[in-house]
Parts: sequence; C-alpha cells; structure tokens
Amino acid sequence: MHRLEISLKQAARKSEINISGGIRRKLGQLISLKAPRRVAIISNQRVFDLYGREVVRSLKAAGFKPIEWLMPEGERYKSFRILEKAVTFLSENRLERDDLVMALGGGVVGDLAGFSAAIYLRGLPLAQVPTTLLSQIDSSVGGKTGINLPTGKNLVGAFHQPASVFIDTETLVSLPPRELVSGFCEMVKQALISDRALFETTVNCLQKAGSNRDFLVSPEFENLIAAHCGFKASIVANDERESTTRSDTKSRRVLNFGHTTAHALETITNYRVFRHGEAVGYGMLVAAELSRNLGLIDAGELKSLREAVSLCGPLPRADNLEINQIIRALKHDKKSVGGQINWVLLEGIGRPRIIEGRLISAKSLRLALRAGLQKESVH
Ligand SMILES: NC(=O)c1ccc[n+]([C@@H]2O[C@H](COP(=O)([O-])OP(=O)(O)OC[C@H]3O[C@@H](n4cnc5c(N)ncnc54)[C@H](O)[C@@H]3O)[C@@H](O)[C@H]2O)c1
Ligand SMILES: [Zn+2]
Repeated sequence: MHRLEISLKQAARKSEINISGGIRRKLGQLISLKAPRRVAIISNQRVFDLYGREVVRSLKAAGFKPIEWLMPEGERYKSFRILEKAVTFLSENRLERDDLVMALGGGVVGDLAGFSAAIYLRGLPLAQVPTTLLSQIDSSVGGKTGINLPTGKNLVGAFHQPASVFIDTETLVSLPPRELVSGFCEMVKQALISDRALFETTVNCLQKAGSNRDFLVSPEFENLIAAHCGFKASIVANDERESTTRSDTKSRRVLNFGHTTAHALETITNYRVFRHGEAVGYGMLVAAELSRNLGLIDAGELKSLREAVSLCGPLPRADNLEINQIIRALKHDKKSVGGQINWVLLEGIGRPRIIEGRLISAKSLRLALRAGLQKESVH
C-alpha cells in the first residue's frame, strides 16, 4: 500500500492519498473519522452495483452508518439540477458537520459529490474513492470540484480538498476500453510535464498494459499511479488555487498541457465524439507541433511524444473537423486571461513552458492543428 500526504499551505491542512488493490474492502478501518458517524456515499448505479456493497459492508463492520444516493450516469448530469438533489439528500438525512461525504465513481461523481460536500453546511469532510484511471491519477487529487453550465464545462465550483483519497487499482479491471485510453492519455500528459524519468516509466507501463490487462493490478502499475498522484500533489501543494499571475514550471497552470485544443474539440462536437482524455491525446499532439514550429523541441522529442500518445490506444477521428471552427472555439477558452489564450507548450520532455497566444501566428496554429489532428500522427 502507498500512502502520500499533501500539505496545503493556504488551508494549513493535510490531505492523504492511499493506494492499494482491494482497498475498498478496508475503507471502514482506514477513514480518519470516529465511528459511529454517518457516511453519505454518492455514486451511480453502474459503479455501486460493481463495488458499492463491499464499501458499505466495510463501513458497517467498522461501526459507521453508511447511506447512499445514486446520481444518473453521464457528464450532462454534472448539473445544478442534480447538485440540488444531492444536497437535498444530505439535508433530508440530517448530515452534520462532522459526518463524511464519500464520492465513489469516476470524475463526474467526484466533481458533483465533492461540490455538494463543499457547499452543504458550508463544508463537510470529503473522501474520494475514484474508480476510473482518469479520476485516480487526476481529478480526485487537488480539490477542484464543480458542475457544468449550459454555456460551458466546470464553470461553477469550489476548491474543497478531500480529507482522504482511496485509490483501489482493482476497480480498473471493469473499465470500458475507451475509459482506459482516456486515462492513459492523461497519464502521458502528466508524465510529459513532470520529468523524463516519469515519462519513461509511463511509456514502459503503457507498453505492458496494452497487451495485458492484468498488468493494471500489478504492483508496478500501482507504483506508477502513486508516482502520478505524487506529481499532481506536488504541483497542487505549491499552487493550490491555480494563480493566474504565475507562469513558472511548477504553477498549476502547466497541468493544462494539451487541454486548450482538447476543450475546443469537445465543445465543437458537443461532448459527443471524444472522451475527455481522448481529446487531450489530440491536444498534446497539437501542442507538440506548435512547440516544434517554435523551435522549442527537436524532431526526436516530437517523435517520442507521438509514440507515447499512440501507445494509449485508438482515438476517434479528428481530421474531418473544421479547422476554422476549432480556432473560433479556442478563442473562447475559459482559461484565457484578459482575452489571451495561454498555451502550455514543451521545451523538452518534462519542461513545460507557458506561451502567450499572441506569440503564435495564425499560420503556425493552422499548421499545428492540421498536423496534430491527422490520423497518421497517432498511428
Ligand atoms: N476536479 C478535477 O480536477 C478534474 C480533473 C479532470 C477531470 N475532471 C472531470 O472528470 C470528469 C471525467 O471523469 P472520468 O473520465 O472519470 O469519467 P466518468 O466519471 O464519466 O466515468 C466514465 C464512465 O465509466 C463508468 N465507470 C466509472 N468507474 C467504473 C469502473 N470501475 N468500472 C466500470 N465503469 C466505471 C462511469 O459510470 C462512466 O460511465 C469530467 O467531468 C471532468 O470535467 C475533473
Ligand atoms: Zn484533463
């Protein structure tokens, strides 16, 4: 079992991350709460059917009083309407300030349950039990919670650090293939902005996972997840609220690598074509092309990056999308500051650099989009 701690300077608090295959059956012994408090599990039907009963059993065995509420499945339910239902459930069950909200599921459940915990009674303790690869290495760590608006994703939310994150690698075995591809892409993203060692370990593990799904429950893959959480935690500890005035390589903004184009692709296809990580796969290829056009990386680094994305698995086609439409969507990126897009590019593997959009010519952007979105660039 791995155990990591994030010390949060601003909040003067600690958040812990526990990683182990089968940990869902031991949650009752591990949560830092004194029985007999109540635990409100927020999940969805699919995940609860797979893992919920074991979680409930473990909590009851340790003297807790678990209750559950299941939200409908899908990104479109990360909404005000469902948020209202979630907090109403907490209220009807008279949850108190010292009770716990537990998110059991992927990033959608984690974001909505986390936001409910952030706002109900102005904040209840939260435990994240992420069950997708993406949520295990990314969304459950760092304290961002929130919901979507019809005008855009994640526009309403709060920072609410989980007291604990419990990562059970065994839950990855039941993931649909595309969800794995999506998580692998986010892993590659994180590795590319962290350092060469994590990049090489990640590529090595992707090669093994591609041909053998049992590898996902191996100690080696558990180590990899721990290394990724450790990297994300180090960034978060340093810049918990994603300061817009920072642009150094340790600022939280570098986590946005590959995301500028990804958000544009998701928007213009109404979130129907790409899983989020798949769009990030293309986003990284576009950012790499831009980095190459600006002379920041060499041809060898571009090739390594392409190979790493291709190891994640097949991506849906993107070469049939309208470049002008993508460019229009890029201009509305929510992470723009003063109307400027800030691109996270690479100066090398493990060396992210934030570049202002005005430094990138329209022609260079067009070329990078065309090259990055080609099917051949992935295979
Ligand atoms: N808060 C953050 O910092 C942060 C970071 C990245 C992404 N996100 C958010 O995360 C969301 C995406 O999360 P996701 O990729 O985990 O998708 P998701 O939560 O939609 O889960 C994907 C699908 O897998 C199912 N599922 C979950 N666990 C399973 C399991 N173990 N076995 C079988 N099926 C399972 C889910 O029911 C769902 O259908 C987006 O809403 C995104 O905005 C948040
Ligand atoms: Zn992402």
